[in-house]
Amino acid sequence: MTQYAFPENFLWGAATASYQIEGAVFEGGRGTTVWDVFSDTPGKVKNGDSGEVACDHYHRYPDDIALMKQLGLHAYRFSVAWARILPEGTGAINPAGLDFYDKLVDTLLANGIRPYATLYHWDLPQALEDKGGWTNKDIVNWFGDYTDAITKRLGDRVQNWMTLNEPWVFTFLGYGIGIHAPGHRDMELYLRASHHSLMAHARAMSLIRANVPNSHAGIVLNPTWVDPHTDSLQDHLAAQRSLSFQNRWWLDPLYRGEYPADMMAIYGDRMNFVLPTDFDELKANPSDFLGVNFYTRNVVRSAPYSENPLKLEEIRQDAEHTEMGWEVSPTAIYDMLKHIHDEYAPPAIYITENGAAFDDVVTGDAVHDDRRVAFYQHYLANCHRAIQDGIPLKGYFAWSLLDNFEWAEGYSKRFGLIYVDYATQKRIIKDTAKWYAQTIRDNGFVLP
Ligand code: FCB
Repeated sequence: MTQYAFPENFLWGAATASYQIEGAVFEGGRGTTVWDVFSDTPGKVKNGDSGEVACDHYHRYPDDIALMKQLGLHAYRFSVAWARILPEGTGAINPAGLDFYDKLVDTLLANGIRPYATLYHWDLPQALEDKGGWTNKDIVNWFGDYTDAITKRLGDRVQNWMTLNEPWVFTFLGYGIGIHAPGHRDMELYLRASHHSLMAHARAMSLIRANVPNSHAGIVLNPTWVDPHTDSLQDHLAAQRSLSFQNRWWLDPLYRGEYPADMMAIYGDRMNFVLPTDFDELKANPSDFLGVNFYTRNVVRSAPYSENPLKLEEIRQDAEHTEMGWEVSPTAIYDMLKHIHDEYAPPAIYITENGAAFDDVVTGDAVHDDRRVAFYQHYLANCHRAIQDGIPLKGYFAWSLLDNFEWAEGYSKRFGLIYVDYATQKRIIKDTAKWYAQTIRDNGFVLP
């Protein structure tokens, strides 16, 4: 038996995102978003699913907060839909949108749950995409206007803010390879979008600091961990290139004020649009913490003849995989945390998402999701190890509170602690949620 006791004040939470759970896309004066349009485009989302109804959380939030309380969550990470606050992305503020998040926050606080608000979890107002979206440098100002409006309204009650969720995903998958909204396939658009996202993050940080007393703010990245396929030097170098592409591309600007030289060499003159002063605001506004979302690792080998500009290929391992096709790799969460701590030393780190999709089966009023329980146990055991090694991991948010709209996978993938029957909107507490609630009560767990 091994006991995993977490530090006093360790924060236990669960996360969601607006488009994945709220539904009510035509209500409360909400504007259209890129995900509404993408979901409406045939062939983009599995089974033609969309977030139109999702978990109907927009109407059911009081019941969902009661469930959070039942689980004993200390904190809830949600995102604000930009298009509820500014339906056209800029310009007129929609009071009904502000009122919704106001009530959400008050209900959380009345139930003793600390709100952790994400400003942007991918649901860009379509009106802004029509002007180029993240590829247009004006987005730094647009995002600033939105941040200003929402932090002025909630800043007296919400101290904890996250600017952007996984800019690598919404810029690379959205503008580079087109499997997420808005669906462009152009590396140059990706590079512009990624650069502007860092600048927009910096603008938001400065506004949060100005508007929110005692603010605690940062960005959420999805750093991966990459192992070489063999011990050869070539494979080790390939793994390093992969880490540069997905991790250092964001972490170097955030913690060193410049892009990594190896990636700049690969992108060459496609980065000529960058001005020397572009990162001034970023350097002036360091984050209080780094949020990391982590699910799986990659294994790569060097592939000099590959069309991939990184000259590598991924090798699927003979190991357990989740329904997403992601390898279950618990020790990799430790490896990733150690890499970030050793190279960048953020003052505080939160796991802002971690979890797994499995094929859940409802039995009466229960879901016996043993594989998911084991997943959480082993990933958390490795988070514990990171804390023992002095890495400042301050909290953990399970992804996700509820089964929900899993982007291009639609409703086919279930990540929830709580099962959602989409036909009736009935919620069922899975065994994982029971285990998690006990873990929160005990501030730790025991593994056989
Ligand atoms: C992350 C997203 C989150 C969810 C999980 C499975 O990339 O931030 O919204 O879809 O993956």
